[in-house]
Amino acid sequence: MSQRITLLGATGSIGLQTLDVIALHPERYQVFALAAFTRWQALAELCLRHRPRYAVLRDPQAAAALRNHLAAIGSDTEVLEGERALEEVSESPETDVVVAGIVGAAGVRPTLAAVRAGKRVLLANKEALVVTGALFMQAVNDHGAELIPLDSEHNAIFQCLPQEGRSRQGVRRLLLTASGGPFRGYSAEALARVTVEQALKHPNWDMGPKISVDSATLMNKGLELIEASWLFSMDESQIDIVVHPQSVVHSMVEYEDGSVLAQMGTPDMRTPIACGLSWPQRIASGATSLDFLTLSALQFEAANLSLFPCLRLAREALRAGGSAGAVLNAANEIAVQAFLDGQLAFNGIPSCVEATLTHLPATGFTSLDEIMSVDEEARAYARQQVTSRGAQY
Ligand SMILES: NC(=O)c1ccc[n+]([C@@H]2O[C@H](COP(=O)([O-])OP(=O)(O)OC[C@H]3O[C@@H](n4cnc5c(N)ncnc54)[C@H](OP(=O)(O)O)[C@@H]3O)[C@@H](O)[C@H]2O)c1
Repeated sequence: MSQRITLLGATGSIGLQTLDVIALHPERYQVFALAAFTRWQALAELCLRHRPRYAVLRDPQAAAALRNHLAAIGSDTEVLEGERALEEVSESPETDVVVAGIVGAAGVRPTLAAVRAGKRVLLANKEALVVTGALFMQAVNDHGAELIPLDSEHNAIFQCLPQEGRSRQGVRRLLLTASGGPFRGYSAEALARVTVEQALKHPNWDMGPKISVDSATLMNKGLELIEASWLFSMDESQIDIVVHPQSVVHSMVEYEDGSVLAQMGTPDMRTPIACGLSWPQRIASGATSLDFLTLSALQFEAANLSLFPCLRLAREALRAGGSAGAVLNAANEIAVQAFLDGQLAFNGIPSCVEATLTHLPATGFTSLDEIMSVDEEARAYARQQVTSRGAQY
């Protein structure tokens, strides 16, 4: 029987690559719902090609435009709108798999709705897990959801761990690889002058703007460190970061006996996406084979924490626990957007995040509403930092 897929963030980089993989296997997968934020024309094209039962836009005006357009061309896709509709298609009994490909904390509620409905959840939206942490993992356990990470690093670790990624028996440490981003090897002076255009040009991956900037500051690796700790129940001290510029070794697991298992492949997100869709089976993803005979030497080096303080801030937030992940993430989302909008220099991103973490020390939380109100508070403070001190950073 074919699997029915809800795709959150359908118009984004993860969304489009998921649809590429799905299109290779029409007998296995059927698109149930496609969801996005405002870009209704892009979603309209996807609706024509993949004929979902529902198209969801969070923005009501964009949804109205899509509804009119699809009605005019006789499409039978029904258009829904608003945040609650994102949750409804994620928890619907008519869907089997939810791909969480929304960027940022905006993905928290629909991703949790899928988890609470016990779906197979393919998690690209690392921010959802960083913000909600223990609450998210508790919901996975309570509702029997099947959580498979799509981040190439976490998907690699998932594949290298025994028993479908669940057992920690004999595991000594996890090694998360990092490309180092576009500014690896830059001096402090050069880093102070980098432009948005340079930050968006990742050497190995073609991704959305927010994660591209996160890769440039190394905050992406920091978020991944927190994500890995929650996903695999590993203490922060058991997760090391290794810069590996070729992005061929996607991550590694070291065992007590000294064995190191690595997952390798060309840098192509369709590989972890296909793995998540078909696990424990394997299907074609469209990715090309890794050609070992033409590979250049593989390099591994330490990350420079003084030039890229976001990684240190994330490690500290993970150690602090509680609300610190949400504060880190919220401040980072605001700072990255301010950088993209030309209101903050590149080095202002870690400064803004650090100031917000200092202002809002970690507290415990027991509900989603509680942590989302911390998220709001952190955003407000980070915005204030950008306005009042943005020019000094
Ligand atoms: N791209 C990668 O290779 C990659 C790799 C690993 C992990 N990830 C993670 O995957 C997630 C998505 O990344 P991406 O690169 O695919 O981002 P992206 O290209 O910017 O796409 C973001 C998607 O989310 C939708 N969206 C944004 N804000 C929303 C909101 N408030 N409500 C509903 N939908 C919203 C966008 O819709 P509109 O188009 O309408 O704005 C778009 O479909 C991120 O968490 C990222 O860290 C990405």
